[in-house]
Amino acid sequence: MTAPKKLFIKTYGCQMNVYDSERMAESLGDAYVETKTAADADMILLNTCHIREKAAEKVYSELGRLKPLKALNPDLKIGVAGCVAQAEGAEIMRRQPAVDLVVGPQSYHRLPAMEARVREGKTALDTDFPEEDKFEKMKGRGKAARAPSAFLTVQEGCDKFCAFCVVPYTRGAEVSRPATRVLAEACELVERGVREVTLLGQNVNAYHGVGPEGADYTLARLIREIAKIDGLERIRYTTSHPNDMDDALIAAHGEVDKLMPYLHLPVQSGSDRILKRMNRSHTAESYLRLIERIRDARPDIVMSGDFIVGFPEETDADFEATMDLVREVKYGYAYSFKYSTRPGTPAAERALVDAAVADDRLQRLQALITGHQREIQTSMVGRDLSVLVEKSGRDAGQMVGKSEYLHSVHIDNATASVGDVVRVRIVDAKTNSLTARQI
Ligand code: 5AD
Ligand code: SF4
Repeated sequence: MTAPKKLFIKTYGCQMNVYDSERMAESLGDAYVETKTAADADMILLNTCHIREKAAEKVYSELGRLKPLKALNPDLKIGVAGCVAQAEGAEIMRRQPAVDLVVGPQSYHRLPAMEARVREGKTALDTDFPEEDKFEKMKGRGKAARAPSAFLTVQEGCDKFCAFCVVPYTRGAEVSRPATRVLAEACELVERGVREVTLLGQNVNAYHGVGPEGADYTLARLIREIAKIDGLERIRYTTSHPNDMDDALIAAHGEVDKLMPYLHLPVQSGSDRILKRMNRSHTAESYLRLIERIRDARPDIVMSGDFIVGFPEETDADFEATMDLVREVKYGYAYSFKYSTRPGTPAAERALVDAAVADDRLQRLQALITGHQREIQTSMVGRDLSVLVEKSGRDAGQMVGKSEYLHSVHIDNATASVGDVVRVRIVDAKTNSLTARQI
């Protein structure tokens, strides 16, 4: 028997990439064990993200840094996966010949065959959008225990074509996995110790999967079915589009105990003019009304969002409309980005807002959001919450986990173990976490 080779995967970007990296590692099976350092790996995979500025350039610099490792280990193979792989394709191997393998997100099930090919000294490139069910073909043989919280991809791709975004090009059209397979995977995760699943999709609430006997499962129906799994305590989902928040999903927030009171619902801007130019097909008003309905169903829900400032043609008045919307919603978490051009997207053709103006707007928006975040976090002090324990803390007797609202909680006198859901009283709010006592 030959010793397993060592696999190092570096994951950039969103939670879906985290999920994909796990599946890729599993699909390479027993031939590889994972290592945490690139320097002793026989296979390095960069699972890349294209959403941030100069994403491709950053990948090329990283590849430049990794290349000398090949001189130290002649067995080392280097691969690029993810959305930069999809966007750049063969160009990656042209610009950095040390790369042996390039695989786009829709071809991950072909990774084992590609790996065999590069072991023969050839290169392998696959950025197709094949028809097969890659998740089914990638099914890991792994039965090892899992951390209490796991991601589960249920939907991929996006048909929305927001004017700034590369996702519809790199991840392709919206595709939902069959509900039966999602349910089977959720059961399997629970058998392996998982207590919380976060259902993932670029447009997760647009989910429409085939259920038993051909039934059409919406996300709401899928959540209700997953909630029936014994041993599973919590369900979350991300990321959602306002236009796909249907009545059934809103109702589920009020009725399904296992569905956690946290919702990431990006709006991007508070100005109708800009929303239109972004091709978002909703208005600030319709978004606010939607949040009202969600809060009617689940009054304590903590909202989260994404914002882009400095979108082409954004005026001071447009930006103020975004500030007004933020004041009205009061997000518990929010991620704000300065617009940056993605070649090939419709907005790439438009004139940019002055960089200093955009920087200033970003700072103001972030200060406003941070203030709300602190306020909401501080409002938890004195309240009794439930925490899913994820790991032990730095101090003796301390355990760390997440509240139902996704706050990080340090429990000081914990008797609970990893995987338990315990009731705690919040005694203090720090900048990035809450301190609690088990009750
Ligand atoms: N510029 C800035 N931010 C962007 N996002 C997506 N594309 C761009 C871009 N070109 C942000 C959006 C999205 C989040 C994941 O990243 O806010 O919701
Ligand atoms: Fe990108 Fe989200 Fe818009 Fe789809 S809905 S194009 S993923 S920002």
